[in-house]
Amino acid sequence: MSDSSTVMFEKVAFIGLGLIGSSLARVIREKNLAKQIVASTRSVQTLLDAKQLGLIDVGYSNAAEAVQDADLIVLALPVQATQTVLKTIKSVLRADVIITDVGSTKANVVDAAHAVFGQNIPTGFIPGHPIAGSEHSGIHAGKVDLFAHHKVILTPLANSDQDALNKLITLWQAADAEVICMDVQQHDEVLAHTSHLPHLMAFNLVEQLANRKDNLDIFRYAAGGFRDFSRIAASDPQMWHDIFFANKRAILEAVTGFEQQLKQFKDVIERQDSQKLMGMLGHARAARQHFNHMLANNPLMEKQTVTQQFRILPGTQKFVGKFTVPGDKSVSHRSIMFGAIAEGTTHVTGFLEGEDALATLQAFRDMGVSIEGPKNGEVTVHGVGMHGLKAPVSALYMGNSGTSMRLLSGILSAQDFDTVMTGDPSLSKRPMERIAKPLRLMGAQIQTTGEKGTPPVSIRGKQILQGMHYDLPMASAQVKSGILLAGLWAQGETSVTEPEPTRDHTERMLRAFGYEVKTEGNKISLTGGGKLTGTRIQVPSDISSAAFFMVGAAITQDADITLEAVGINPTRTGVIEILKQMGADLSVENQRIAGGEPIADIRIRGTQTLKGIHIPEDQVPLAIDEFPALFIAAACAEGQTILTGAAELRVKESDRIQVMADGLKTLGIDCTPTADGIVINGKGKIGEWSTIFTGGEIESHHDHRIAMSFSMAGLRCAAPITIYGTETVATSFPTFTQLAQQAGLNLEAS
Ligand code: S3P
Repeated sequence: MSDSSTVMFEKVAFIGLGLIGSSLARVIREKNLAKQIVASTRSVQTLLDAKQLGLIDVGYSNAAEAVQDADLIVLALPVQATQTVLKTIKSVLRADVIITDVGSTKANVVDAAHAVFGQNIPTGFIPGHPIAGSEHSGIHAGKVDLFAHHKVILTPLANSDQDALNKLITLWQAADAEVICMDVQQHDEVLAHTSHLPHLMAFNLVEQLANRKDNLDIFRYAAGGFRDFSRIAASDPQMWHDIFFANKRAILEAVTGFEQQLKQFKDVIERQDSQKLMGMLGHARAARQHFNHMLANNPLMEKQTVTQQFRILPGTQKFVGKFTVPGDKSVSHRSIMFGAIAEGTTHVTGFLEGEDALATLQAFRDMGVSIEGPKNGEVTVHGVGMHGLKAPVSALYMGNSGTSMRLLSGILSAQDFDTVMTGDPSLSKRPMERIAKPLRLMGAQIQTTGEKGTPPVSIRGKQILQGMHYDLPMASAQVKSGILLAGLWAQGETSVTEPEPTRDHTERMLRAFGYEVKTEGNKISLTGGGKLTGTRIQVPSDISSAAFFMVGAAITQDADITLEAVGINPTRTGVIEILKQMGADLSVENQRIAGGEPIADIRIRGTQTLKGIHIPEDQVPLAIDEFPALFIAAACAEGQTILTGAAELRVKESDRIQVMADGLKTLGIDCTPTADGIVINGKGKIGEWSTIFTGGEIESHHDHRIAMSFSMAGLRCAAPITIYGTETVATSFPTFTQLAQQAGLNLEAS
């Protein structure tokens, strides 16, 4: 019994005390939420057991007696029995009573209430559905933690009382459940697909196998797949019998969808259509992974949960090794996008299997493109041509990826179907008007439906786009690319002028796909109406990922790190230039061209300490993603490092100026953020390699680069550094932890 909890109810009456009812009774009892708990059940034995277990104070065989004076009634019985019970208790209800239930279907519970109360359903009547349970049933299977970290859906009616709803929410939260409210119909449709259909399929499979003559052999040799898939077929038949009838309409619809999908699988296997089958299996597998991620990150679907943290301990002895960091994120995104709208097949190697690029890949699969892989960085995209994309069945989820959302805005504005794009909490705060505005000038119908010109982005198809010239107000490769991509479908010429050169992967790759793109100074142009032809794309290693190791080696005595086959496209090499100016011992070796992009091995040694510099503004767009890491280098340098002209950093995955300044201060570094940059007073001394950072706790604000940058601070820390929210590292650098540990960083991920 918890002393801190407050009694919420005078008397709680359970009608039925099976698995769910008795588990909730256990919670109410343990947390002391009610003065009295009573129950009425059909089985006398259950009442005796409930008393013996200490779950109830009084047991009744008659529901009307049990609910006398109760201020909370929980109907925890088969949904089919709801109407009979409501009829029995109708005349003895308190005026302020709260009545809820725990059934898996909701429309029929509401129908039952209508049948009994007509238009006067009590305002405290709020149906509910805890999405928890097990294949076991009965009072003895109940557990006090059955609902912990599970969802409970409440379906208030139009006349439901807000106080009653709040009380129910508090009750379920006391059971450590997450409460979601939705309307009755939506509940039944969602559950038909996510719960009722899978149960029916499990019963169906076991029934099918059990009816075979060789059933004994089958069950004896049944492998893990059968065990996993059929587990839920051991559930209570009576309960599922009731549910299948109670939610008949929605379930039958779901079954029809299942039959159609199964038929498609049957057809492609019959026809031995290998490409189609790989496409379907790959899509399903990716969708499964994607949904996992969505569930973990989408606040609309689930409470935000931070799933990972890094802890870096002081005393790293060495930072050495030769590493190949994963593929370039910008190039990976574009390889899928361009491959999808090309004619013919595109083979990609070195593809970044990080969540951002996978979000792009999933979006195109959702638009009907058959894509094989990724497997060991290899992807095959079966292009559908400029007019072959199909309407996705639901919103496209872009995760954490601004590049996906902004570039796709251009492509989707030119399609003949409507689309909506959503993202995770970080992406949902990022400005989308910067791309929506110019696209509107071309005739696109695009809306940023978030509060401040932020996602979701909603696009109306069937618009005829006109080519135009646009002077970019900010140096942004994403905006440039989004406009040029819309220009592929626009009438006439589309051109952009950038204030400073930004990464030119779009221009280079369009040419690799056989599309003419002109560049004159800072002006880039193309003419709509052409086509792309599938090709081979070799994705270089991402210099933005390499940058963490470059900085790590530059600040660590005797470090010796070589990063192999890194992309050194001149629009991306600001980090090399800046580190060199700060005095790092850095050499670019073995330069060569691979897949149209220059690459090289980059070697950095910890032979000399760094000095602060005023970072040249022309380097800013060329190192835009590397500043969080460079700030760590600046903190270790002697003297001041001044960054100006970098206001764009404030609208990245987080406000990187503020978030880095906060973190640096936490770790004992004197720095001052400014509107468009930062001044960092380095704590280093030329020729000395002493510790720079105190220990401390860093909040990464869902920003992968913040998390990885502060990890490198661990190479010069005096006490442990804990970094929260590091799960986003997987968006761009899924092997970061492993490579950092291999190099010698004392990093624990948990
Ligand atoms: C990117 C462009 C840059 C960069 C981002 C990737 C791209 O964004 O920060 O990580 O692939 O075009 P901006 O266009 O916002 O500068």
